[in-house]
Amino acid sequence: MTKSNTVHDHNLLVGLFGLAAGLAFLLVFPKFKVVAGALFLLALFHLAGLAVLMVSTYFLAPEKFRRTLTRFSGKKARAREYDFGWTWGAMNGHLMMAGVLFLFALALQLEFGWLWPVWFLLALLGVALMAGGLLLRTSKRPDFACLPMVDLIPGKADLVLDAGCGAGRTTLAISKVLGEGRVVALDRFDAYYIDGGGRALLERNLGIAGLSGKVDIVAGDIVRIPFPDGHFDAIVSTHVIDHMKDAKLNGLQELFRVLKPGGRFLMVVWVPGLATFLLANVFSLGLTSTAGWRKMTAKAGFTIHDEGTFNGMAFFVLEKPL
Ligand SMILES: C[S@@+](CC[C@H](N)C(=O)[O-])C[C@H]1O[C@@H](n2cnc3c(N)ncnc32)[C@H](O)[C@@H]1O
Repeated sequence: MTKSNTVHDHNLLVGLFGLAAGLAFLLVFPKFKVVAGALFLLALFHLAGLAVLMVSTYFLAPEKFRRTLTRFSGKKARAREYDFGWTWGAMNGHLMMAGVLFLFALALQLEFGWLWPVWFLLALLGVALMAGGLLLRTSKRPDFACLPMVDLIPGKADLVLDAGCGAGRTTLAISKVLGEGRVVALDRFDAYYIDGGGRALLERNLGIAGLSGKVDIVAGDIVRIPFPDGHFDAIVSTHVIDHMKDAKLNGLQELFRVLKPGGRFLMVVWVPGLATFLLANVFSLGLTSTAGWRKMTAKAGFTIHDEGTFNGMAFFVLEKPL
């Protein structure tokens, strides 16, 4: 899905949802005019945004032409910045939800002041969501994927698998420290929250870093990795296994299979904690705990060489016994 498609879909969905919810509120709770008004405003804002987007997409010059126009300005340098493709919806969803919660809290406070525990809680959740939204934006930094200082890659000419590479934050970090080794960047390239699924951005980011020659890009699924047993000297996988719902253990077992005996696997995952509460709110409570990851990785056959936290997330350096 392209960036503009994602934004179009998002605007249309929120616009229609706002209109429907506003109407429902007006009919069912005529007293809640403030809430209905807020929902209509949200809907209009998104539908107007959609109209502007559609018109501008139609009239705007192709990117190549725009680049030519901006050749002599500072924009040229910016065009060579890494882009990890986090969609507009993914980057701004928290802030939008926080805004909706604040409006609800305000409406409740005005209409039912005595319900203060409810509107106070809603406002607090809004603050947490806002903080989460701001935290999420820091993940756009090019240095976000500085990996923990672990002795992951013992050999000079290692072959490393980046499982679920996305647009390449980890691929860049690992390729830079790899000496003469190579990286296989594997992904399904279908994540809805990464522009275009990530493959084109990965190629572009590697090109900017001058690392294209060091990386083989492979489209594939972590539960069916298209490589033989013990093929990789090391594996990294950041913010991926925790996205795999009920296929987490299958994914870990498959990574175990393709890692050579004695090889190490750096896994970064979300676990319940302050950072993830800010990012995922009450949903963070349903995340697999650190103890849960220990159990699951052991079940897949790994031993734990090291573990800790960085950027608010948990990391494990796992080892396949000899
Ligand atoms: C949150 S992104 C993280 C990308 C990258 N590792 C990073 O830290 O920037 C998760 C990535 O995992 C990929 N992914 C999730 N499940 C997968 C699977 N079963 N097989 C291959 N890739 C998968 C998604 O396509 C997406 O690119």
